[in-house]
Amino acid sequence: MALQKLVIYRVRNLEQVSINPAAKINLIYGNNASGKSSVLEAIHLLGRASSFRSTTIKNVIHFAHNDLVISGHVRFSNEHVSTLGIKHDGKNLQIRIDQENRHSRSELAYALPIQLIHPKSYQLLDAGPQLRREFLDWGIFNQHPDFLENWRHFKKALTHRNALLKIRSVKELNVWDHELQQYGTIVANYRKQYLTELSPFFFNIAQQFLMLENLELKLIQGWDDESLLLDKLAEDQEKDLRYGFTHSGPHRADFQLLINSRKVKDFVSRGQLKLLMLSLKLAQVEHLLQTGFTSGCILIDDAVAELDFSSRTKLLEFLTAMNTQVFLTATEQNEFGDLQEIGEYKMFHVEHGVVTEV
Ligand SMILES: Nc1ncnc2c1ncn2[C@@H]1O[C@H](COP(=O)(O)OP(=O)(O)OP(=O)(O)O)[C@@H](O)[C@H]1O
Ligand SMILES: [Mg+2]
Repeated sequence: MALQKLVIYRVRNLEQVSINPAAKINLIYGNNASGKSSVLEAIHLLGRASSFRSTTIKNVIHFAHNDLVISGHVRFSNEHVSTLGIKHDGKNLQIRIDQENRHSRSELAYALPIQLIHPKSYQLLDAGPQLRREFLDWGIFNQHPDFLENWRHFKKALTHRNALLKIRSVKELNVWDHELQQYGTIVANYRKQYLTELSPFFFNIAQQFLMLENLELKLIQGWDDESLLLDKLAEDQEKDLRYGFTHSGPHRADFQLLINSRKVKDFVSRGQLKLLMLSLKLAQVEHLLQTGFTSGCILIDDAVAELDFSSRTKLLEFLTAMNTQVFLTATEQNEFGDLQEIGEYKMFHVEHGVVTEV
């Protein structure tokens, strides 16, 4: 699928933007503070109804105005075109899909899956586990329609259990222990299966960018692999009551990237770490494509900045060969890599919030 038309009103410094992106590679360049990231932010808002820079959409609205509107036409591989739109007036969010009001962000997320790669993504492999759990769950969410429901049940059970632990109400714990066991195990199994399926895609891509052998992705499910979550919860109960939270479960899940059993983040260079993160993110999209799911758009903000010219060119070549739509930003045209190597692309220049196709 591809975003065919994108119309943005009053997002950051973009008062009014209307572009027809290419189905594959879109290169967006312009000076600092011209509005490049804001264009990607608008696409992200359209697909996720959330910003990747602000916790509230209110901050994204142009200072001089009271609302923002973003709409887009999404063409699917079967030629069907869907119209997506969101509007935020500082308080309320309105979502429209094919001229109908919708109430859930997940519907939008299924209609326009967004794979985001931006400066913060570099923490994927060396910051805390939250980003890695989100990484796994994004992939599973896009492939298994029932995952979200199970994940929500698991979160609900965890929230209730933690609330009871805080007030030391032991009697009711049992009910939530069972819920947590049931849905927590489903979530953990999905993650295990997903990482196993993703691994060959990741190894293949990483090999194209880096000379690293014997890579291994290892899941940590959040409690020891051999025991049932229910048994672990019973075993931990005293400790959980003492500290007022649940020590074991899928909320403690993580994964590690290893080479010969050593954690990669402890010895690779910064550039290598970037390429590994990029490989993981691209592997997710490739996995979706190969398994016949909607792959969505890849947004790459400032991401090529620290890569050497040959890595940038390799990345461009790889993205061109991939059957998916990509938006990349950089401050200069020549930062993208060797454009001779890629066939079809569109280039957009951004200046003081005005976007023009070059
Ligand atoms: N709510 C807002 N209303 C109007 N302008 C805003 C708002 N929020 C941010 N801006 C301004 O929008 C401009 C564009 O920001 P943006 O981050 O998109 O630039 P950029 O082209 O990505 O720059 P860089 O190359 O530095 O990453 C900045 O000048 C910023 O201060
Ligand atoms: Mg930027």
